[in-house]
Amino acid sequence: MKQRLEDLLASGRESISAAGYESELQDVRVRLLGKKGELTAIMKGMGQLTAEERPVIGALANKVKEEIESLIADRQSVLKEAAIEGRLQSETIDVTLPGRRVKSGSKHPITLVTEEVTAIFASLGFGVEEGPEVEKDFYNFEALNIPKDHPARDMQDTFYIGDETVLRTHTSPVQIRTMLKYEPPVRVIAPGTVYRRDSDLTHSPMFHQVEGFLVDRDITFGDLKGILTTFINRYFGEGIGVRFRPSFFPFTEPSAEVDMQCVICGGSGCRVCKNSGWLEILGSGMIDPEVFRSVEYDSDKYSGFAFGMGLERIAMLKYGVNDLRLFFENDYRFLSQFA
Ligand code: DAH
Repeated sequence: MKQRLEDLLASGRESISAAGYESELQDVRVRLLGKKGELTAIMKGMGQLTAEERPVIGALANKVKEEIESLIADRQSVLKEAAIEGRLQSETIDVTLPGRRVKSGSKHPITLVTEEVTAIFASLGFGVEEGPEVEKDFYNFEALNIPKDHPARDMQDTFYIGDETVLRTHTSPVQIRTMLKYEPPVRVIAPGTVYRRDSDLTHSPMFHQVEGFLVDRDITFGDLKGILTTFINRYFGEGIGVRFRPSFFPFTEPSAEVDMQCVICGGSGCRVCKNSGWLEILGSGMIDPEVFRSVEYDSDKYSGFAFGMGLERIAMLKYGVNDLRLFFENDYRFLSQFA
């Protein structure tokens, strides 16, 4: 039995140091010291020993058991340490690697134009008003002196939502809403989204306008010219020529279209200004007494002017963009140029 115990210790020592994983070591422990293990098997022979041999063998068996246990414990801490070391190796983070950058957005060019135009008019004393994009026929047409049978309704291809409800075709209805809300003097601009049934290279069914108007005592066409010339020179550059051409809008009388000298060629003629040297950028005029009548302003006491412009066109001229569709496609490469 003594020999068997010594063999057990020797072979145990080998298997313990050969165990590469903690689970493997656990198997070795069960095989050597478990209830059905090798040590138990050997101890079954104790009964055949003499009374003198028994305590000697017993003591040896205990020593073998303790020895094996301590070998296992040593091995276990070595394996544990190796496991930690292995994880540290495989899970290290290289803090010197460059991080992934978060792309930050930038304002849409139409937003930029809206803000800049608003700021210029704010500096001239204009406040900002807004109106709904789903609008009543009354505000979009009727009160602006465009009755149902008026040919001017054909100028604007309207999206109808119901008999009396439309997607607003211009920002002019905000004039009506504002005048119904406040007594003169009023001095307001109204930027916003508008809709028309029109879609081709130069027209989008959704686009943006800024409306502006001013009503007070003794307002003349000279005030209109002064304000719009000031705006154009502040936004596009001092010294840029401005001209007023007679035109027609149902809600203004007299009406004028406003041109500025071509900002692309400086007035010498190019593709953008169709060789005329001039760019049309605004519709305007003195507010028609019929409009005052529908908001119950006294046209003997008050007069005023109004104007409206398309923001996409302003943005194209300001930033030299030659394709309207770029404003609506949301291509990051385009938008990031305005950061
Ligand atoms: N509402 C016009 C349009 O969409 C633009 C316009 C022209 C507005 C003359 C005005 C104005 O206020 O006086 O074509």
